[in-house]
Amino acid sequence: MAQYNSSMVGFTTDDPSPPNIIFITKVKLKLRPRKILLLLELGIDFLSIEYIVAVGARGGPTLQNGPNMHARPLVALLDGRDCSVEMPILKDVATVAFCDAQSTQEIHEKVLNEAVGALMWHTITLTKEDLEKFKALRIIVRIGSGVDNIDIKAAGELGIAVCNVPGYGVEEVADATLCLILNLYRRTFWLANQVREGKKFQGPEQIREAAAGCARIRGDTLGIVGLGRVGTATALRAKVFGFNVIFYDPYLPDGVEKSLGLTRVYTLQDLLFQSDCVSLHCSLNEHNHHLINEYTIKQMRPGNNSCGAAGAFLVNTARGGLVDEAALATALKDGRIRAAALDVHENEPYNALAGPLKDAQNLICTPHSAWYSDPSCTELREMAASEIRRAIVGRLPDSLRNCVNKEFYVTGGSVGPYGDGPINGASAVAAAAAAAGYAFNPMGIPHSTTLDPAALAPHSTLQESSTPNHAAAPKPESSEVH
Ligand SMILES: NC(=O)c1ccc[n+]([C@@H]2O[C@H](COP(=O)([O-])OP(=O)(O)OC[C@H]3O[C@@H](n4cnc5c(N)ncnc54)[C@H](O)[C@@H]3O)[C@@H](O)[C@H]2O)c1
Repeated sequence: MAQYNSSMVGFTTDDPSPPNIIFITKVKLKLRPRKILLLLELGIDFLSIEYIVAVGARGGPTLQNGPNMHARPLVALLDGRDCSVEMPILKDVATVAFCDAQSTQEIHEKVLNEAVGALMWHTITLTKEDLEKFKALRIIVRIGSGVDNIDIKAAGELGIAVCNVPGYGVEEVADATLCLILNLYRRTFWLANQVREGKKFQGPEQIREAAAGCARIRGDTLGIVGLGRVGTATALRAKVFGFNVIFYDPYLPDGVEKSLGLTRVYTLQDLLFQSDCVSLHCSLNEHNHHLINEYTIKQMRPGNNSCGAAGAFLVNTARGGLVDEAALATALKDGRIRAAALDVHENEPYNALAGPLKDAQNLICTPHSAWYSDPSCTELREMAASEIRRAIVGRLPDSLRNCVNKEFYVTGGSVGPYGDGPINGASAVAAAAAAAGYAFNPMGIPHSTTLDPAALAPHSTLQESSTPNHAAAPKPESSEVH
């Protein structure tokens, strides 16, 4: 039975089990009844809420005899607060904290000192300096596929494995890309807005006026930059609509074009020159920031308002940093680019009322939502939590499914309570979980299924990794990288 004193300063309990989920913040909390209800819905009990109040108040009282957080490794969701999907996957092996921070300055010392695992969306950035603040961290899982907001090399050198979740929303992003491409060609978004504004269209003359710019797809060339998972899914969809699909991806081996029935070009310049619509699907890396800039826009199919020629379309559902928005704004104004659709932006969250694109008319923007559907979101979060679980119960980095910094990873580089090897002394947690009735299977948490302990039959024994994996990352030919 837990007992609380009225000022919520002290905390005594004869219940040895710590809360599974805690909210650790440096920002003073104002817990309104609605928020308490929300916390309850997330599975946080009153015991935890007492703890929240005690830890959350800046400069406020500290827990003298609060729950022993060392009993289980601490895993922190850095830039969010909803852990309801992650909890069932992690609760028997970790204590989960959510920080709701936008920078490491907002992360509580307890997390900086004790968290061995971190989950993060795309709101927070972790530079080398940020990573050095974490004293016990061994694993970061990006809840998403892009890892451009983490210095993965510095992390590896600090002994922190970085993982992503590729593949969770490939279909959603490809569908959203097609949706944007179709809107640019068929002007659905602008026409629907006119109808919504009450405009009435009588007869073909008025339709023609309103729908000016609506274009035929069949026979046009769609140029895909980056033929990875999303690029491929987009290419296959676009073919069905009658596009002639070409792609540029210097990292892929020969023959991909043949297996997919696409046309390959070997320079970005060729792709831009030939495409009626350019769709970006490459990862953002140190070679391709502002891939689309004033110079490369001039290599796109020309358009000019004064002579009525139509320029090319541009679609970006990959990363905002790939496009120089100031150069795009000028090209949209000049008609050199006919129209553009952006799901991702140089600065997010995107503010349509500020920045160089604020006055652009022939532009559709969505709020980095291409990945989202209810099932893809659940799948994403389950996959991220499962990777953290594999790290806790297995060996780093071998037991991880999607480690993106193995080539930089220094085994045992971290200093902290958990040192080398399994980050929580896997055997102790495995034993505890087994005692609680969980069959232990670090690799086999199913995705998009309710966690059913009975279904988790063990099927592998993980061996300690003694040598770092130096698997070579694919290197582009330098002349082909822009
Ligand atoms: N908008 C969203 O909601 C959303 C969701 C998921 C992914 N994304 C982004 O979509 C993009 C594609 O994701 P993915 O899962 O298909 O990635 P992926 O890693 O499977 O594919 C990326 C491809 O880009 C290629 N590439 C890298 N640099 C290149 C360059 N300079 N020129 C041409 N090709 C280059 C790589 O060789 C690779 O084939 C990424 O930028 C990712 O961050 C966006």
